Amino acid sequence: MSRISIGVVGAGQIGRKHLKKIAEHPDFELAGIADVNRDAVAAQYPQARVFANHLALLDEARPQAVIIASPNQAHADIGIECARRGVDILVEKPVTDTLEAAGQLITETRRSGIKTLVGHHRRHHEQVQKLKALLGEGNIGALVAVSAIWAVYKPDDYFVAGPWRTQPGAGPVLINLIHEIDFLRFTVGEIVAVGAVASNRQRHFAVEDTAAALLEFANGAIGTVIASDSAVTPWSVEQGTGESIEFPFSGESGYRFMGSHGSLEFPTLVRWSQPDGARSWTRPVLSQRLFATTIDPYAAQLNHFRDIIRGTIQSIETVEDGARTLIATLAITEAAETGARIDLLERYEALADGTGQFLPKLRKTP
Ligand SMILES: NC(=O)c1ccc[n+]([C@@H]2O[C@H](COP(=O)([O-])OP(=O)(O)OC[C@H]3O[C@@H](n4cnc5c(N)ncnc54)[C@H](O)[C@@H]3O)[C@@H](O)[C@H]2O)c1
Repeated sequence: MSRISIGVVGAGQIGRKHLKKIAEHPDFELAGIADVNRDAVAAQYPQARVFANHLALLDEARPQAVIIASPNQAHADIGIECARRGVDILVEKPVTDTLEAAGQLITETRRSGIKTLVGHHRRHHEQVQKLKALLGEGNIGALVAVSAIWAVYKPDDYFVAGPWRTQPGAGPVLINLIHEIDFLRFTVGEIVAVGAVASNRQRHFAVEDTAAALLEFANGAIGTVIASDSAVTPWSVEQGTGESIEFPFSGESGYRFMGSHGSLEFPTLVRWSQPDGARSWTRPVLSQRLFATTIDPYAAQLNHFRDIIRGTIQSIETVEDGARTLIATLAITEAAETGARIDLLERYEALADGTGQFLPKLRKTP
């Protein structure tokens, strides 16, 4: 089978990771890179064709597929130009920076019929897929509640290197918590309403450093999730799985899934239950360690992208699905600002109407 010709737009932190995975992959060949810093990127990748913008990449190198790893604000425009040329896309998270832009991108991708994948790489972890299967088959009974923590300490130079990270829209809710929201939507089911509080008490930036959200799921389960970039803890999925060397392994679980017949910790997959089906707080609750391998989720994501391009499987996360994650995440910011509980169903319905004009229909819960 012939190799898939692929381009990468944006050769920054995550774009370079994608370029490495492409170079290691037998089924892809790099058609070219587009980056506004063309000369610097060309010096880093002397073997590659490097273009100053995505249009030149698309029209001169004519890739079959593109990974969009530019800043969020450019995702929609780049994705739309790909769609107009029939080029399949893997677009980094968040799918776009605004819901309006997401609507425009969805409209164009539907019109063109291209394949789309959103880069919430966590869905590709074997532990995540195993957890999803266990919850789906009722391994711990009916899910009652979930408690999730993603809390790390980002060093001061992270904010000095990127002052935009201190401004609204770039806090841990939209940068980090969005991964937790996507992960919970994938493993538990749809989130139908949110409430939230946020604080900037540690760093005093214009943006939050810590947020706590209340989640209501379509299946009746409820949940809490905390995200912070200002606390020293071993509880993040990166640390718990050891998915990449820059975040040292802790092997600890930041998630607890509580069911009517048992509970599960994630990512360690420790399962708690009572022997012989007895259920009582006066009886012991015993643990059993389940197992799933830690794999490189970025390599698995690229395998998945190959398979959806070749038409052998459906996308694990289309741009529509990524937009639902964005709707829920933006609503958490809104809930923290307004103090309101926000119902998401109407927003999802507006997204699904196919016109791409859903933004004006959005209404805040009074
Ligand atoms: N999946 C993940 O875990 C993950 C991790 C990090 C970043 N991201 C996402 O990836 C995207 C990029 O983030 P990053 O941290 O790599 O940013 P970055 O600032 O390190 O890199 C962005 C690159 O894009 C280039 N660029 C800027 N505007 C461009 C344009 N219009 N066309 C082409 N190139 C352009 C910049 O020169 C830079 O090289 C963001 O959407 C971010 O949210 C995802």
